[in-house]
Amino acid sequence: MRESLVLETEKMKKIYAGYAKFYDLIFKNFFYPRQRHVIQSLGIKPGEWVLDVGIGTGLSLSLYPPYCNVLGIDLSGPMLKVAAKKVMKNGFGHVCLAEMDALKLALKDDTFDYVIATFVISVVPNPVQLIEEMKRVSKKDGRIVIVNHFQSRHKVVAKIEEIISPLCTKVGWRSDLALDYLIKNGNLEVDNHYKMKKLDLWSVIVANNNK
Ligand SMILES: C[S@@+](CC[C@H](N)C(=O)[O-])C[C@H]1O[C@@H](n2cnc3c(N)ncnc32)[C@H](O)[C@@H]1O
Repeated sequence: MRESLVLETEKMKKIYAGYAKFYDLIFKNFFYPRQRHVIQSLGIKPGEWVLDVGIGTGLSLSLYPPYCNVLGIDLSGPMLKVAAKKVMKNGFGHVCLAEMDALKLALKDDTFDYVIATFVISVVPNPVQLIEEMKRVSKKDGRIVIVNHFQSRHKVVAKIEEIISPLCTKVGWRSDLALDYLIKNGNLEVDNHYKMKKLDLWSVIVANNNK
């Protein structure tokens, strides 16, 4: 089990290293409007601490108000390199970046007001472990924010997503992660769950850190 987790993580590292140069070109149109909607709706206050887990190329960076403190972590050095260029170019003095495995965060307990993972939970080999880590580093009553695709509740669509999931993992994510599974096994106290558009592929989950 442990070995296969390492293998999966290494596989993702390779895949996202390959994406780094083209990532914004391929994904920005889909991901950025959703990040904008969610991050702007949080009402982040001056001095608050935000952890952006799996920040990738830093698409979200410009959305954080300069009066908060942001740490962005990612497994992929090449993805972070693109994010670092944005930090430099825009003089984002409130942002720090670090290469780190989200499943083993080298961060203290009870540190962040917001722990945010956009389009990451279905990329890691163990989504429940990610939730546990997000909760651990979040302050008590901090907010856990997830934007992701989850398996449809429609039986036929869900079956198709299950069938194509092995193919999806070859390009960097799984398509069969069920939200109910995540809520139950991650013991998530969901405060708000919605889609930006009625038939959107991606859902927004805002949960209280109920530790
Ligand atoms: C689909 S991208 C999303 C990037 C960014 N959050 C966004 O919304 O554009 C998934 C990211 O998760 C990162 N990732 C995958 N496994 C990870 C892990 N175990 N720890 C930290 N980051 C990881 C990848 O390197 C990649 O940058």
